Amino acid sequence: MELFNKLQGLTLVNMVRQAKLYPFFRTLEGSIGNNVTHKGKNLVMMSSNNYLGLTHDPRVINAAVEAVKFWGTGCTGSRFLNGNLSLHEKLEKKLAEFLGTESALVFASGFLANQGAIPALAHKGDYIFSDGDNHACIIEGCKASDAETLVYRHNDMEHLEQLLKSVPADCGKLIVTDGVFSMTGKTAKYDQIYNLAKKYNARTFIDDAHGLGVVGVGGRGTANMYNLPVDVIMGTFSKSMASQGGFIAGSAELIDWLRHNARSFMFSAALAPASTAAALKALEVLMEEPERVVKANANAEYFKKGLQNLGIDTMGSPTTIIPVLVGDDSVCLGVCQTLLKLGIFTTPVVYPAVPRGQALIRCSVMPTHTEKDLDIAIGAFAQVAPAILAANAAPNTNAIYEEMNNGAGEFMKSQMRV
Ligand SMILES: Cc1ncc(COP(=O)(O)O)c(C=O)c1O
Repeated sequence: MELFNKLQGLTLVNMVRQAKLYPFFRTLEGSIGNNVTHKGKNLVMMSSNNYLGLTHDPRVINAAVEAVKFWGTGCTGSRFLNGNLSLHEKLEKKLAEFLGTESALVFASGFLANQGAIPALAHKGDYIFSDGDNHACIIEGCKASDAETLVYRHNDMEHLEQLLKSVPADCGKLIVTDGVFSMTGKTAKYDQIYNLAKKYNARTFIDDAHGLGVVGVGGRGTANMYNLPVDVIMGTFSKSMASQGGFIAGSAELIDWLRHNARSFMFSAALAPASTAAALKALEVLMEEPERVVKANANAEYFKKGLQNLGIDTMGSPTTIIPVLVGDDSVCLGVCQTLLKLGIFTTPVVYPAVPRGQALIRCSVMPTHTEKDLDIAIGAFAQVAPAILAANAAPNTNAIYEEMNNGAGEFMKSQMRV
C-alpha cells in the first residue's frame, strides 16, 4: 500500500468536525490561569493541569524572565555535552530535598523522562508490569525497552500478582504505575503494589505527573501519601510546576545510571533556562506555601458537592481532578460544546481514552479558582445536568471512534490523554 494512503483514515475525525463536535486544538487567545479567552469569549478554565495555579504567579514569571536575561533563550546542546547549567543542578537538588530522595535528574519533558528511564532500567530478560491505564509515554518507554511488558488490568492487584507469579522468580522486575490517573483522578493502590513488590522482589516506579502538588503531605505525591518508599519517582513540570520539563528522582546510584544510559536525556537538548527557572520557583513556592494544596482540595470539595447536589456522578475521585460521568460519547461531546457556550472550558474524554460507554467530562480545580468561578461552573452544569443524567440512565456501548481500527484510534487515544 502506498505509504501516505493512511493519511485518508481520519474520516471519523472529519465527521465529528462536520458535526461541530470536534473537541481538540481549541485555540486560546489569552489566559490568566483560571480564566481563558476562546473565540473572543471569556471562559472559566475548568480543565487545566495548572493544579496549583502557578502559571501566572508573578514570582514564577519573574524567575523565568530573569533566567532568560542571564542564560539566554536556549541551552543549544544536551546536558551530557555542552548544555549542563548550574540552574539545572539547583533544580535537581531542590527536587531531591522536596521528595526526600538522594538525587534527581531533569529531562526536557516528562514524556522523555519515561521514554528514556524505562528502557535504561529494564533490559532483555527483565519484566515490566504496567497498569492498563498508564500514560502513553510509559507505553512508549515499555516499547523502547528490550524487556517483556506484561499489562495488568487497571488497578487490579489480583491480576498484577498473577502476572508477577507467572515469570521466573530470579529475573529483574519493574512495576510501573501512574500515581494519580489523569482521567478519573483516582490514585494507584500503591500500598498493595509495594507489598507485592516486596513479595516478588520487584522494583517500583511511580509516574507522579498528576500526583506532584496534588496528593501527599504538601503535594509530595503518591508514595508520600501512603507513607511508603518507592524506587523511582517520575514527575513533570508541565502541570503543578507551571512550566515544562520532567524528572526522575531516586537513589544517587539510580540517577548516575540514568545520566549515562537514558538516551532521551543524553541525546536531546537540555531544558531551556526559562522553563528550568520557572519550575524551580514554582517548587520553592509550593514548599513555602503548602496551603495551596489544601486550598485546591477545599475548592475541589466545594465543586464536587455542587455537582453531586445536581445528581451528577463524580466517580468517587479523591483528588482535584474531577470526572463527570456521562456515558455516551456524542452526548459527552455535545455537553462540552454547550458548556463552552455557557462560559466553561472542560475536556471531553471518549472511547478509546476511556472504556466504551464511559465517556466523561474531565474537570480540575485550582486553588486560584474563586468561589464565583466555581459557582459559574456549577451553574453551567445545572443547565446540562438533565442531558448528563439521561445519558447516565441509558446504558450504551456506543463509541464514536470505534471504527478507527487503522491506527488512528491509537492516535486519538494519545491525543486525548492529558
Ligand atoms: C501521567 C503522565 N505522565 C507523563 C506525562 C508527560 O509529561 P510532559 O507533559 O512533561 O511531557 C503526562 C502528560 O500528559 C502525564 O499525564
